[in-house]
Amino acid sequence: MCGIVGYIGCRQAASVLLDGLSRLEYRGYDSAGMAVRSGGSDVVVVKAKGRLKALSDKTDAGRMLEGTCGIGHTRWATHGEPSELNAHPHISDDCAVVGVHNGIIENYQELKEKLLKKGYAFNSQTDTEVAVKLVDYYYKKDAAADPVKALSRAMVRIRGSYALALMFKDYPEEIFAARKDSPMIIGVEKGETYIASDVPAILKYTRNVYYIGNMEIARLQQGTATFYNLDKEEIDKELVEITWNAEAAEKAGFEHFMMKEIHEQPKAVRDTLNSVLKDGLLDLSSVGLTESEIGRISQIYIVACGSAYHAGVVGQYVIEKLARVSVRVELASEFRYRDPILDPDGLVIVISQSGETADTLAALREAKQRGIKTLAIVNVVGSSIAREADKIFYTLAGPEIAVATTKAYSAQLIACYAIAVEFGRCRQTVSDVDYKRYLEELAVLPTKINKIIEDKERLQWFAAKHANAKDIFFIGRGIDYAVCLEGSLKLKEISYIHSEAYAAGELKHGTISLIEDGTLVVSVLTQPELYEKTLSNLVEVKSRGAYCMGLTTVGNYKIEDTAEFVTYIPQIEPCFAASLAVVPLQLLSYYISLARGLDVDKPRNLAKSVTVE
Ligand code: F6R
Repeated sequence: MCGIVGYIGCRQAASVLLDGLSRLEYRGYDSAGMAVRSGGSDVVVVKAKGRLKALSDKTDAGRMLEGTCGIGHTRWATHGEPSELNAHPHISDDCAVVGVHNGIIENYQELKEKLLKKGYAFNSQTDTEVAVKLVDYYYKKDAAADPVKALSRAMVRIRGSYALALMFKDYPEEIFAARKDSPMIIGVEKGETYIASDVPAILKYTRNVYYIGNMEIARLQQGTATFYNLDKEEIDKELVEITWNAEAAEKAGFEHFMMKEIHEQPKAVRDTLNSVLKDGLLDLSSVGLTESEIGRISQIYIVACGSAYHAGVVGQYVIEKLARVSVRVELASEFRYRDPILDPDGLVIVISQSGETADTLAALREAKQRGIKTLAIVNVVGSSIAREADKIFYTLAGPEIAVATTKAYSAQLIACYAIAVEFGRCRQTVSDVDYKRYLEELAVLPTKINKIIEDKERLQWFAAKHANAKDIFFIGRGIDYAVCLEGSLKLKEISYIHSEAYAAGELKHGTISLIEDGTLVVSVLTQPELYEKTLSNLVEVKSRGAYCMGLTTVGNYKIEDTAEFVTYIPQIEPCFAASLAVVPLQLLSYYISLARGLDVDKPRNLAKSVTVE
């Protein structure tokens, strides 16, 4: 995720910016840049692709940039590939306004078109350049040339999330900031003011911070900060003292990255969905899929590894159900060597968080070599898979640090749903009424995920009681089985407890012999037409001594006659239930790992990106 640092004071800004940005490196980035100015002189902008060291080398560790006022940025690409051109800061043509930005501006295309008509030119593919030039436009339109006024007018026009830090040529030794749904804090010490997207960037310099609120504007001068609402009225803010240490600050107060990322799922889901919505309707043109092309696809092959494969299994059920196109889902390590027979009118969809998984990349190459169209659902912009696939559907989960994936998996599910619903609409297997209903259901997913996360203490209590389990089984049918695969993998990865996911109806064909007194069986029952069936399977294991946990939808209270512990998820269109059902399973694994005193974020023998076969 992108990082912002800004400074005004008595020291050379560039070295403070480089130091601050280095404290945000853990968040992941692909390029970096700084804009520094000395008094009323022109701003100097330097950018570099790759590690922060490249920026440091380019500026002789900041010594080449003279000035006590500056803004810096590390970019995690969302709009446009990782490159020096797309790196921040972005600047208006006459250098009147220069800015950095975190977040996603959803209507940037629409704003760009407006600005193009007004004579603006664009050098990058980013939404940030649009935001900077929009502020510049309002700044110049008004005779008063007031940055606060210009920002407030731009904020009314911008849809999406942003933390913006800007410098105006006419206002030396000042930084202006605005934010909505993207974090930003302002720190003050005697004669010095800092701005940062995250606490660790400035913790070394100050512990006194202001939290700039949603839809608020800040004006930073040496040692002071003034805040305004959207009506440009001054507002009072309380200075807060940060008591966390640097390590805790990186995790935004969470004990582990995994827990932080579980909490980031509503945002990952919302951002990914919004990236393919235009005027409230699905639009896959940014992915490169036209309506007629969608209509012609005869077969889909989903290929991935690990959790991404599990997202694909959910995708298989949902795409087949809504779009009525046949889907085959395969492990990339199998696909690449089995000499697959591929329908030339088919589409291979590879799913990968990192975009670098060796088997998935090889499977993609194999498919391409056989002349079949490929689409990658991928999280890391500019990664090998993103570069090589014919079409790209970016998940907007942001960088994932914990080895066990949570938010990237959730974002992958959304990509699969968007494909299912849009394919269904284009192929006329989804009616207008259902299309509207599906979109409404997708839009409320983030709120429902939040609701589940808020109730996490019950799961913590349950997890503590089962932290010493020897084996744990997960059972479900249909989409619930796909969720079980992911729940079981999460548990194995971070708790080191043996676990298996089973299609509930398959148990009696062998595995049920492993059930003994007290074996924990977690059953997932979110699919109405399969509820009674899975419940019967639960009764079967209970009668053989299993200790049963149920995970079902609010209202399915009959399960309490069988299961000793039940977790309910909010009601949801069953096709999308995996997005809710997976959350309690992630929390269960997390709490079991915690109770066993294990390294939640870095489990043994595992790496975040598997670039070897
Ligand atoms: C499990 C996990 C892995 C990855 C798998 C594929 O929590 O993270 O199973 O899902 O290694 O990785 P990507 O998605 O980067 O291709």
